Amino acid sequence: MSGARALDQAEPPAVAVDNTFLGPLWQSPLELGADLVLYSLTKYVGGHSDLIAGGCMGGADLMARVGEMRTICGTTADPHTAWLLLRSLETLHIRMERAQNNALILAERLRADPRVSAVLTAGGPDASPEQQAIFEAQCKGSGSTFSLELPGGEAEAFRMLNALRLFKLAVSLGGAESLASHPSSMTHSDYTPEAKARSGIGDNLVRLSVGIENVEDLWADLDQALSAI
Ligand SMILES: Cc1ncc(COP(=O)(O)O)c(C=O)c1O
Repeated sequence: MSGARALDQAEPPAVAVDNTFLGPLWQSPLELGADLVLYSLTKYVGGHSDLIAGGCMGGADLMARVGEMRTICGTTADPHTAWLLLRSLETLHIRMERAQNNALILAERLRADPRVSAVLTAGGPDASPEQQAIFEAQCKGSGSTFSLELPGGEAEAFRMLNALRLFKLAVSLGGAESLASHPSSMTHSDYTPEAKARSGIGDNLVRLSVGIENVEDLWADLDQALSAI
């Protein structure tokens, strides 16, 4: 963040952080020095996969300018979406805690499973020392979205994804229901092979967004899908 502020300009650029993946509980960018924090409210905050909205927070001066731009662009949420969001805020904390607990249990079991090559969580045993240091300095939790690498490639990943019954094949995250996706052919399908390699997105990568279901049901689903590979 200091890099952006050090630029020799009359008005240094504002530092904006998209905090969608760690949501409002597990990382607080404004406390860490960001000027603006952005959320896809579609994810944890909405939490029920029934709305699309975004949020931006920051100091009063900058937010006055964001508000002007919102008026010009017309990106105000409609009343029904606003009502759904208010309803969802009542359960945000317990949904996020439960989803993260489920994810921690599943990640631990998957790490011990010989059918999985690696389990990639924010922080944790597979993080590089640099990433781990950032995680410990900035984050209060690892969230409920993580990835696994399977032995093999696309065919193995597709066999696992096709075998899942409770996890739905979709790219969102932070909802009450668990989702699984194949980043290489879905979210990151427009990356060049070089960019995928640089970002660690192999054909054997499967992303999970863990929801609030019974964790034993989720484990049973992953267990049978891994056996289908
Ligand atoms: C990190 C992040 N930010 C923003 C967005 C955009 O969200 P929306 O679909 O609500 O426009 C997404 C969507 O996947 C996301 O993953």
